Amino acid sequence: MAENHEEHKCECKEAYEDIDRMAEKHRGDSGALIQVLHYAQERLGYVPRDVQVRVAERLGVALSDVYGVITFYSFFRERPRGKYTISSCQGTACYVRGAPEVLARFEKELGITAGDSTPDGLFSLEVVRCLGACGLAPVVTVNKDTYGRVTEDKVPAIVSLYRAGAKREDMSAGS
Ligand code: FES
Repeated sequence: MAENHEEHKCECKEAYEDIDRMAEKHRGDSGALIQVLHYAQERLGYVPRDVQVRVAERLGVALSDVYGVITFYSFFRERPRGKYTISSCQGTACYVRGAPEVLARFEKELGITAGDSTPDGLFSLEVVRCLGACGLAPVVTVNKDTYGRVTEDKVPAIVSLYRAGAKREDMSAGS
């Protein structure tokens, strides 16, 4: 069967081969699945579908098991990290002050779930545990910017700010 690397842009032939080797080394050991996927993400930055298929084949586990792990753990990403990473703190202080609603609003606004990136490559959304700014709970960071006391209704403005910023950058790059 022809190998297909088209699902992501990286020409990481060597990384693919190393991932294959790692999966083959653990063939028949379904307990090594998370370890192999971790390795794949470390090498590529994310775990695209074609890599999931290769890992399943070489490790000898069902593709549905691989997909189950990828979707269960928010740590794994199926797409490359976006230009802006939005981290929503779900640590205790943030959680009790409405962080789950804030996260849900980001998911709705971006049309993705935590752990995923938008198809335009602009945003990644992730969940983190305590950003060390509990006095500002609920806390959200976007790359290096920190937002405190975030409520659901502030979410669209935060997203728009970065969308507009990216657009401005595009325009000045094109001029
Ligand atoms: S729990 Fe969110 S910053 Fe500490």
